[in-house]
Amino acid sequence: MAKDTQNLSDKSLDLIKKKSTINLVVVVFAFAIALASVYFTRIIVEQLKVRELGIMQLYAKSLEFTVNNQNSPDELAFVVQEITYRNNSIPVIQTNGIGLILGTKNIEIDPAISESEREDFLMNILEEMKLEYDPIEIPFRDEKGEVYDYQYIYYKNSVLLNRLEYYPLVQLSVIVIFGIIAYIAFNYSKSAEQNRVWVGLAKETAHQLGTPISSLMAWVEYFKEDETLKNSEIIEELEKDIHRLEMITARFSNIGSVPVLNYENLPAAIEATLSYLRKRVSKKVEINLSAKPSDIRARINKPLFDWVIENICKNAVDSMGGVGKIDINIKKSADDKIIIDITDTGKGIQKSKIKDVFLPGYTTKTRGWGLGLTLVKRIIEKNHEGKIFVKNTEINEGTTFRILLKS
Ligand SMILES: Nc1ncnc2c1ncn2[C@@H]1O[C@H](COP(=O)(O)OP(=O)(O)OP(=O)(O)O)[C@@H](O)[C@H]1O
Ligand SMILES: [Mg+2]
Repeated sequence: MAKDTQNLSDKSLDLIKKKSTINLVVVVFAFAIALASVYFTRIIVEQLKVRELGIMQLYAKSLEFTVNNQNSPDELAFVVQEITYRNNSIPVIQTNGIGLILGTKNIEIDPAISESEREDFLMNILEEMKLEYDPIEIPFRDEKGEVYDYQYIYYKNSVLLNRLEYYPLVQLSVIVIFGIIAYIAFNYSKSAEQNRVWVGLAKETAHQLGTPISSLMAWVEYFKEDETLKNSEIIEELEKDIHRLEMITARFSNIGSVPVLNYENLPAAIEATLSYLRKRVSKKVEINLSAKPSDIRARINKPLFDWVIENICKNAVDSMGGVGKIDINIKKSADDKIIIDITDTGKGIQKSKIKDVFLPGYTTKTRGWGLGLTLVKRIIEKNHEGKIFVKNTEINEGTTFRILLKS
């Protein structure tokens, strides 16, 4: 039997688990795309670095050629035009053998700054360049081909390369932001859809119950006219049932619309529900109510709040197999909220299942729908702007549900 119940609960949780597996697959997939994108951008960056180094070497060679071959003006013009000035992206500083700056290329210098500021600015860039790459040496040769001096070409990554290095980060942030927005939008539309189902179904139920109830009322009036039935128990019982049906209709019609909240004496309202319940549950279940102060007032919708107390108490009775004690304690918190603790002496909830009890479809009962606590949570959070959670639970000792309401 216990095994059957377990199977049933596992089955009803299947849907919830399947959903979280899908979520996991999507996250893993997005992560894989992001990683692949970072990896390929890195490869491109590395290749571009090699290319830029090649350009720099060609640039240095062309300079070397220019300084060491001063006899052929045509060739020189070609080298200067076609190669030296072709580099229009890599920042370059050219120094002499003792480190004095001779010239720069592709470094933007503010024309408004003074000569000394300009020097400092260039020295800073030179330091950056020294950290990034080793300089390229240009040997100067005399007519005999002997090296008599050196110049150095310092350079750093082009703006394009730098941008490309940060590109994966930008891309990742865009993917993450997009993911978050998509997730929020998806969840919002999902909860809006659930809302429509709840509201639609509740309204329809209330509407459909209307006709048979008015018909039943007419029948009761008719029986009351009848001399033989006038004071019989049947009429009394019928009226009770009609009253109960009307209460159910009120619940459904309230949950299907924006319910009106009224200031009520909370202990009195709960006591009324309890006295109804006491008659219907096993005599071996003791239900006690304590409140301090005893006339705490709260803004509630009576039919819906009844439903909350009824659902929680029914669960409590189920959890103790019909024998035990339910204590309801109402008090005010330091920050002026109303606290309602409902404690039972039942079998408790496994710690790992505490999160699940409010999910639609989660049940451990053979005849349960797993909707009771979903409804309770909805009524407390959506209709009363309150909170509900499992405050405490111990296996085979009992459970406390806590409701927080605004005062
Ligand atoms: N007081 C409690 N003590 C122990 N377990 C509880 C208690 N209240 C709820 N649960 C667990 O949470 C589950 C979900 O409760 P919920 O009221 O949502 O559905 P249900 O009672 O199984 O079915 P129904 O839709 O008929 O209410 C229960 O099946 C039970 O396992
Ligand atoms: Mg229930």
